[in-house]
Amino acid sequence: KSLTVGLIPADGIGREVIPSAKDAIIAVKVRAAGTQIHRPPCWMGNIHADGICPSPRYCPVGPTVFHKFRVFHAALYRTLKEECDCALFGSVSSPSRKVAGYSSPIVALRKELDLYANIRPVFSVAGTGAEAPRTRPADLIVVRENTECLVRIHTRHCFSVQQTRLYSTLKRRTSSKPKKEKEARATRLITERASSRIGKIAFELAKARPRKLLTIIHKSNVLSVTDGLFRESVRAVPALSNGKFDDVTIEEQLVDSAVYRLFREPEIFDVMVAPNLYGDIISDAAAALVGSLGVIPSINAGDDFVMGEPVHGSAPDIAGKGIANPVASIRSAALMLRHLGYASPADKIDKAVNDTLAPAKLLTPDLGGTASTTEVTEHIMGLIKEQ
Ligand code: NAI
Ligand code: MG
Repeated sequence: KSLTVGLIPADGIGREVIPSAKDAIIAVKVRAAGTQIHRPPCWMGNIHADGICPSPRYCPVGPTVFHKFRVFHAALYRTLKEECDCALFGSVSSPSRKVAGYSSPIVALRKELDLYANIRPVFSVAGTGAEAPRTRPADLIVVRENTECLVRIHTRHCFSVQQTRLYSTLKRRTSSKPKKEKEARATRLITERASSRIGKIAFELAKARPRKLLTIIHKSNVLSVTDGLFRESVRAVPALSNGKFDDVTIEEQLVDSAVYRLFREPEIFDVMVAPNLYGDIISDAAAALVGSLGVIPSINAGDDFVMGEPVHGSAPDIAGKGIANPVASIRSAALMLRHLGYASPADKIDKAVNDTLAPAKLLTPDLGGTASTTEVTEHIMGLIKEQ
């Protein structure tokens, strides 16, 4: 049986670090059912300098090509669903303003493939010196709901009704028009179904860890309707699971104080489950505890498909310099393989990464070193091959 991995480097440093993840998968020689992989991972989604999409297997994504081609992502979804067992996504730059018709391909991919669980392990590697000064070791997993939360955004020009009414006397006297103001609204969607299924994944992960502790992150003191539903739905999971999770301890923490406590005492957390936006923020924040966003992997998991993805973005400040840390992507490949049941190849990759980080001799600049992406990648590949 072959394992076909769709590779979608997208843009920015995604194009520099996804090749490292691909090398790691090839280096561990994934064996499926005792047979060596015979089809090399396919290479898709590379944005060509000329913006040309040579075949349906190459599906460019991101704003760079959107303006030229108004590319639909349908071909990419189809290829992933029909031809691949899993995928690795790099990073994509998003315009900070609304661009008509454009939506982020990573957000669309998560929705289209129903990759509802974003699993982000954050842990310190002893001896790296990569941790932020004065922080205590962290070993936790952020489980982020991946398909809902702030979903629809409306903008419009409107007259402030309240202001018009309040100042009506003044208005009549001065005969000035009410000020035209901009207003933006976002709709927040939280469903019982999505909260329960992410809750179940979080309970499974907590159960498999030594401490068996799950902390539900929410803000239901203020957002009592939406976050209240999230909290209740996650809390209801054990009762619906025939005692399977009776050994898991459940705690709760409001999202703002969770961030505070994460920095002061990261050891109090084991598995944290959160709605989409909080999960995104918490996992970036947690990255500071272990030295860099460049080492934090993730998978986007659904019932039928899994996609590895470094937590970081396209890092325009360092893109093209050859100094991006490839560890997050390489670890994402390992996490994805582990999720698919290939524990031994995943262990090999993780060991090679940790053995590279721990001596703190060969580190990229984000971790205080001077090594390049290529040097770190080659070192890790060498250690994989030695095992
Ligand atoms: P970012 O994660 O790209 O960068 C934040 C900081 O971390 C930067 O200083 C960057 O140099 C550093 N950094 C990140 N990854 C690194 C690595 N592998 N090695 C060394 N240093 C690393 O976040 P930022 O700057 O907020 O966003 C940049 C762009 O990325 C935006 O357009 C944003 O929309 C997009 N983005 C895309 C994501 C995705 O594709 N899933 C996720 C997050 C952001
Ligand atoms: Mg983020």
